[in-house]
Amino acid sequence: MATITRVFLCFSSIIILNLVHTLAQSHNYIIHMDASAMPKAFSTQHAWHLSTLSSVLDNADTSNHNNLNTAYSKLIYTYTNAMNGFSANLSPKEFEALKRSPGYVSSTLDLLTKLDTSHSPEFLGLNPNTGAWPAAKFGEDVIVGLVDSGVWPESESFNDEGLPDKLPSRWYGNCESSIKCNRKLIGARFFNKGFVAQQAQLSTIVNSTRDTEGHGTHTSSTAVGSQVDNASFFGYANGSAKGVASRARLAMYKVVWNDRIYTSDVMAAIDTAISDGVDILSLSLGFDDATLSDDAVAIATFAAMDRGIFVATSAGNAGPGRGTLHNGIPWVTNVAAGTLDREFHGTLTLANGVNISGLSMYLGNYSAHQVPIVFMGSCDDLTKLGNARSKIVVCEDMGGNIDNLASNIDTTNVLATVFISSVTDLSVFLQHSFAGIIINPRYGEILKAYIKSNSDAKASMSFKITALGITPAPSVDSYSSRGPSNSCPFVLKPDITAPGTSILAAWPQNLQVAQFGAQTLYNNFNFLTGTSMACPHVAGVAALLKGAHPDWSPAVIRSAIMTTSDIFDNTKKLIKDIGEGDKPASPLAMGAGHINPNKALDPGLVYDVGGQDYVNLLCAMNFTQENIKAITRSSSYNCSKPSLDLNYPSFTALFNGSSKESRITWEFVRTVTYFGEGQTIYTASITPIKGFNVSIIPSKLVFKEKNEKLSFKLRIEGPKIEGFGYITWTDVKHVVRSPIVVINQASSQ
Ligand SMILES: *[C@@H]1O[C@H](CO)[C@@H](O)[C@H](O)[C@H]1NC(C)=O
Ligand SMILES: *[C@@H]1O[C@H](CO)[C@@H](O)[C@H](O)[C@H]1NC(C)=O
Ligand SMILES: *[C@@H]1O[C@H](CO)[C@@H](O)[C@H](O)[C@H]1NC(C)=O
Ligand SMILES: *[C@@H]1O[C@H](CO)[C@@H](O)[C@H](O)[C@H]1NC(C)=O
Ligand SMILES: *[C@@H]1O[C@H](CO)[C@@H](O)[C@H](O)[C@H]1NC(C)=O
Ligand SMILES: *[C@@H]1O[C@H](CO)[C@@H](O)[C@H](O)[C@H]1NC(C)=O
Ligand SMILES: *[C@@H]1O[C@H](CO)[C@@H](O)[C@H](O)[C@H]1NC(C)=O
Ligand SMILES: *[C@@H]1O[C@H](CO)[C@@H](O)[C@H](O)[C@H]1NC(C)=O
Ligand SMILES: *[C@@H]1O[C@H](CO)[C@@H](O)[C@H](O)[C@H]1NC(C)=O
Repeated sequence: MATITRVFLCFSSIIILNLVHTLAQSHNYIIHMDASAMPKAFSTQHAWHLSTLSSVLDNADTSNHNNLNTAYSKLIYTYTNAMNGFSANLSPKEFEALKRSPGYVSSTLDLLTKLDTSHSPEFLGLNPNTGAWPAAKFGEDVIVGLVDSGVWPESESFNDEGLPDKLPSRWYGNCESSIKCNRKLIGARFFNKGFVAQQAQLSTIVNSTRDTEGHGTHTSSTAVGSQVDNASFFGYANGSAKGVASRARLAMYKVVWNDRIYTSDVMAAIDTAISDGVDILSLSLGFDDATLSDDAVAIATFAAMDRGIFVATSAGNAGPGRGTLHNGIPWVTNVAAGTLDREFHGTLTLANGVNISGLSMYLGNYSAHQVPIVFMGSCDDLTKLGNARSKIVVCEDMGGNIDNLASNIDTTNVLATVFISSVTDLSVFLQHSFAGIIINPRYGEILKAYIKSNSDAKASMSFKITALGITPAPSVDSYSSRGPSNSCPFVLKPDITAPGTSILAAWPQNLQVAQFGAQTLYNNFNFLTGTSMACPHVAGVAALLKGAHPDWSPAVIRSAIMTTSDIFDNTKKLIKDIGEGDKPASPLAMGAGHINPNKALDPGLVYDVGGQDYVNLLCAMNFTQENIKAITRSSSYNCSKPSLDLNYPSFTALFNGSSKESRITWEFVRTVTYFGEGQTIYTASITPIKGFNVSIIPSKLVFKEKNEKLSFKLRIEGPKIEGFGYITWTDVKHVVRSPIVVINQASSQ
C-alpha cells in the first residue's frame, strides 16, 4: 500500500449511491426531538424515544410489549449531549408518521463518508526550554479526544511513562472491550451501530477500538504521542518522535469501519466524548455538501463548543479547486495543510567528485561502489535495460508516468537508477524496490554532459539522507481543500494551516507500510499526507494553550491561534500556494496563516464569540427556528439580533457578480478583548488591497486593564473584484493580524 499518497476523502460519489437506494426501502435517519416536549411520565429520553418509535410502527401489534421490542430493534442510538434525539431505521410510512409525533423537530438521512513526527513540533518552533511546551507542561492533564479509526495501544507513542497517576476528576470515560487503558490512553470506545444497521450483511468487523486502518494511530500520536527515541522510516526522518502535546491524555472514539463512516456513529461518538469530559476534539473527517443544519459534525460540535470543548477539523483533500472544503462551520477550527522544511534524499557521486542530490525513499541496502553509469533516454527498451543490469541507468521522464519507468526498471532488475524528472511524490519508492533517486532536470543536463564526455563514466550512490531546512517552507500544499465554505460563506474558512505533508507518526505493527519486491515491509512509524494530518497538529496546539490557560474558551483559543499565525515562510516571503503555481497563498487556501504555538500563548487581543453570536449568524442566514433548534437544542437562544457580521478574527467581504465599474462598501464592527496586563495602546495598520479603500475607525485603541473590550469599525470600499489583505493591531509587544478577503460569491458556486 502506498503510504505517502494522499488520504483522499472521496465521499460525494458514495453519498449519491446511498440516495439512489430503492425508494420504498427503509432508511436510517437521525431525528431531532425537542427535549422540553418530553412528557413527565418518561424518566429518560431513551424511554421517550422508544415509546415514540413504537407508536409509529407499520405493523403495530396489539401487544404493547411486542411493539416496544420492535421499536428497540429499530432504534440505533439515543443522543443526549451532541443533540437531542435518536437515530432509527424507518420505512417511508413510519417516517411520515414520526414527523407528526409530539416533540419532532427535524431529521436527516444517515449519510456515509470516508477519512480524509519526528520533526513537525520543531518546525512549529516548539522548544522544551521556552514557550508553549514548558508553559503548558506539554499539555499535562488536558484530555484530547479523537474521532477516528481507532488506536494501536501497544505503540510506544502511547506509553505513559512519567504521566501523573491521578486522572482529571472531570473524566468519565474508559476503555471498552479488549483495549487496556493506561495513563496516556485513558479512553477507547467504538461506535458501529450505524454501520451495522446499513452494512452488516456486507462486512465482518471486530467490535473493538483497535485501529484496523492506521489512520487513527497516526493522527492521535501526532496530537499527543509520547516521546519515542530512535524513530525512523527505514532510516529516513530518524530522530525522536513526539506529539505536539506529549503529556496530554488521549481518548479514542472509533467510527471508521472498513474505510466507511456513518453520521449516526459520528454523532454517537461526539455525544459520548462530551459526556466523558474531553477538553479538545480532533476530527479528521467531514461531510461534503451538507448545510449547517444537516451536517452531523456541525450539529454535534455546536454542543461541544457550548460545553467549552475546542474542536479542530480537517478542511479536506479536494484542493486546489475553489469552494472544495468541508467542515466550513463557524464554531469549529478548520485546518488546511502545508509542507515541512524536510526532504528525503539520495546522492549520486560521479567519479569526477561531483555530487548530485535527488529525492529518494529507497528502503533497501545499497552497497555497490563506483559502477558504470549510462544514459538510456526514456528507458522503454527492456532489452537494452536488461543488458545494463550491472550499471546505474539514467532515465528521462518525458512527462510520462514515473510509475511505468519504475516498473521497467524493476522488471529488468537494473542495479540502480537516476530519474530525471520534476516529480516530487515519493510513493513510487513504496511500491517498487529499485535503488534510485529523482533528480531535477536542471541537474539532469550536468549528468548527461558528464556521461557524454566520459567513455568510462562511473558513479556511486548513497541513500537514506534526511535534509532539513529546505526552502521555501511552509507552503500550502496542492491537495488542501479551499474556501469559501459553501455552507457559510460569511465566515472565512479554512481558519489556519498546519503541517500535513509527509508526516511521520505511529503506525500499527500489523499493517504494511510498503511493498519491497516480494517483501512486505512493516514499521512502527509511517508517513501520511493530508489535511487529516494537519488537523491533529492544531488539536495538539489547542491542548497546549488549554494547559497554559485553562480558562480560555474555544473561540479564544481559535482567535489566539489565528491572529498570531505566520504569513511568511522561511525565506521571509509570503507563504506560497503550490496549488496555484507558487503564487502567494490567499486566505481561501491558508486561512489566517501557518500556526505558531509559542506566539499563540500570548495573543494580546482576542476576538471572542459566544453561543448567541453564532445563533445571530444562523438567524441572519434565514435558517428556520426548527433548523436552529436542531443545532442549538436550546430555546435559551433567540433571533432578536440577526447579524452576518460574526465577531471573528477574519473578515469576508462578499459580492455577487463581477463589475470593475460599480463600487460597493462593506462595514464590519468587531470587538476585541484585551488579554494583556496594564495600560497599552494598539495601533491599526492595513496591508492594502489593490483598488480598494480600507479604513479603520478608530485606528487607535487605548486599553486600561485586562479583559477590557473595545470596538472598531472596518470599512472597505471598492469595485466588484476579488482581492485580499490584512488588518494588524500592534502594541509594543504584540502583533494581532487578521486576513481580509473580498470574494465573488458567483465564482464559488
Ligand atoms: C458488534 O456490535 C454490533 C453493534 O454494535 C452488534 O450488533 C453485534 O452483535 C456485535 N458483535 C459481537 C460479536 O459482539
Ligand atoms: C538509539 O540508538 C542509539 C544508537 O544506535 C543507541 O545508542 C540508543 O541506546 C538508542 N536509544 C534507545 C532509546 O533505544
Ligand atoms: C539520523 O541518521 C544520520 C545518519 O545515520 C545521522 O547523521 C543523524 O544525526 C541522525 N539524526 C538524528 C536526529 O538522530
Ligand atoms: C560528495 O559527497 C561525499 C559523500 O557524502 C563527500 O565525501 C564529498 O566531499 C562530496 N564532494 C563534494 C565535491 O562536495
Ligand atoms: C537492510 O539491512 C538491515 C540491517 O541489516 C536489515 O534489517 C533489513 O532487512 C535490510 N533491508 C532490506 C529491504 O533487505
Ligand atoms: C434573508 O432573508 C431576507 C428577507 O427575505 C433577505 O433580505 C436576505 O438577503 C436573506 N439573507 C440571506 C443570507 O440569504
Ligand atoms: C432574546 O435573548 C436575549 C438574551 O438572552 C434576551 O435579553 C431577550 O429578551 C430575548 N428576546 C426575546 C424576544 O425572547
Ligand atoms: C448571484 O447572482 C446570480 C445571478 O445574477 C444568482 O443566480 C445567484 O443566486 C446569486 N447568488 C447569491 C449567493 O446571491
Ligand atoms: C479612497 O478614499 C479617499 C478619501 O476618502 C478618496 O479620496 C479616494 O478617491 C478613494 N479611493 C478610491 C480608489 O476609492
